[in-house]
Amino acid sequence: MKYFIEVWGCAMNEHDAETLGGLIEQKGFTKADNYLDAQLIVLHTCCIRAKAEDKVIGRIGALSKIKKKKPEMIIAVGGCMTQQEEVAKYIEKRFKEVDIIYGTHNLNEFDDMLNIVLADKTQVRSISKSEGMDIKEYVPMKRNDDLKAYVNIIYGCNNYCSYCIVPYVRGREKSREVKYIVEEVKDLLSKGFKEITLLGQNVNSYGHDFKDGTDFSMLLKELDGLGDFRLRFMSSHPRDFDFELIDTINNTKNVCHQIHLPLQSGSDKIIKEMNRGYTKEHYLALTEYIYKVMPDATISTDIIVGFPGETEEDFQDTLDVVENVGYDQAYMFMYSIREGTRAAKMDNQVPEEIKKERFHRLLELQNKKSLERNKEMLGKTYEVLVEGFGEKGRLTARTRGNKVINFVGNISLKGNLVKVKVKDYNTWSLYGELIGD
Ligand code: 5AD
Ligand code: SF4
Repeated sequence: MKYFIEVWGCAMNEHDAETLGGLIEQKGFTKADNYLDAQLIVLHTCCIRAKAEDKVIGRIGALSKIKKKKPEMIIAVGGCMTQQEEVAKYIEKRFKEVDIIYGTHNLNEFDDMLNIVLADKTQVRSISKSEGMDIKEYVPMKRNDDLKAYVNIIYGCNNYCSYCIVPYVRGREKSREVKYIVEEVKDLLSKGFKEITLLGQNVNSYGHDFKDGTDFSMLLKELDGLGDFRLRFMSSHPRDFDFELIDTINNTKNVCHQIHLPLQSGSDKIIKEMNRGYTKEHYLALTEYIYKVMPDATISTDIIVGFPGETEEDFQDTLDVVENVGYDQAYMFMYSIREGTRAAKMDNQVPEEIKKERFHRLLELQNKKSLERNKEMLGKTYEVLVEGFGEKGRLTARTRGNKVINFVGNISLKGNLVKVKVKDYNTWSLYGELIGD
């Protein structure tokens, strides 16, 4: 029997799907190349914005139709969206074709749920209201890549940014013990992985729940000693990302000088309303220091436009930070009301047309900045990790700053570090020439 997993949302979800894949393969399933060949289809969902949820509902509708002609098909829907009790109930009632509904905290029970469906053909639902997932070590995993791997270091989020639903569906912060993280990274390196990305909603609060002085800097130093590889992490929180951590990154040999530092807004008033706990000045001081000690650093961000109460003046503050920092990349979103969050109850919601108009202005500025950042790379040589084939038969590779460079070369270079000189660029891509390894 074959299975197919469709994933929405963040890196954390992509990595959860690797755990699901591991559990499913233990039951004797193999991965299908496309959903039409699969007997088991899993939709691993996201609820961060309304659009993500609407897409999933559409997808369940389409699969339910297919199932009418293919009754042996098993449909599972789970993750952040169904962790919300009312959404799970809605899906259960409206789509009888859905066999398994699981919450974020019930990921590790997926194989038991699958057993029930395979034996009894009944609909099962498991959504626990617990404060978070019980961390389980040594769960089997079906990794999507053989060069780059995600490693969870902290689950959940305690921040309650006023627009965000994550703390309600992913529970409270729970760090993974250092020894298990070290063991997993060692194991990955011994299997030939070349790049590790540490994952958490806010990696900067890693270890704080142990209350024994463990922190993220200590973890980075510990992992840095495990070999020669590329070490990345996401996401950071500007409130907790401090100057000392920047020095730590600079003093390690493996941690890449690539920082994802979500700004969300450049206006002090909006940052406060968002419950983010920093100021525009502090944010700019951090990015200035990053570039000062690591001139080769790349910085990316997340920005929300149209948060309740955002005026043109507030928005100008956001544009000002974007202009000042010169992000390599920005993930930009229009504010989306999420029921249950504090911002959803605010009565000064920004009209959709204004959100759209601001979004386009921001996008235009960021595109200009991305182009400028790429232009700065022209004529320079970078060490890149070759990932495989990219567009138009070229090889695709990444710099330590996570910038993608495409170049002509032999596929046998996959997994190698080689030197490439940048010859051309546009807003989204860089093109280079192999100059040796
Ligand atoms: N509306 C729009 N964007 C949001 N994000 C989180 N919640 C919302 C929301 N309600 C964005 C933030 C976060 C990213 C993962 O998604 O920018 O950093
Ligand atoms: Fe959401 Fe804020 Fe937690 Fe990020 S830090 S997951 S934006 S509540």
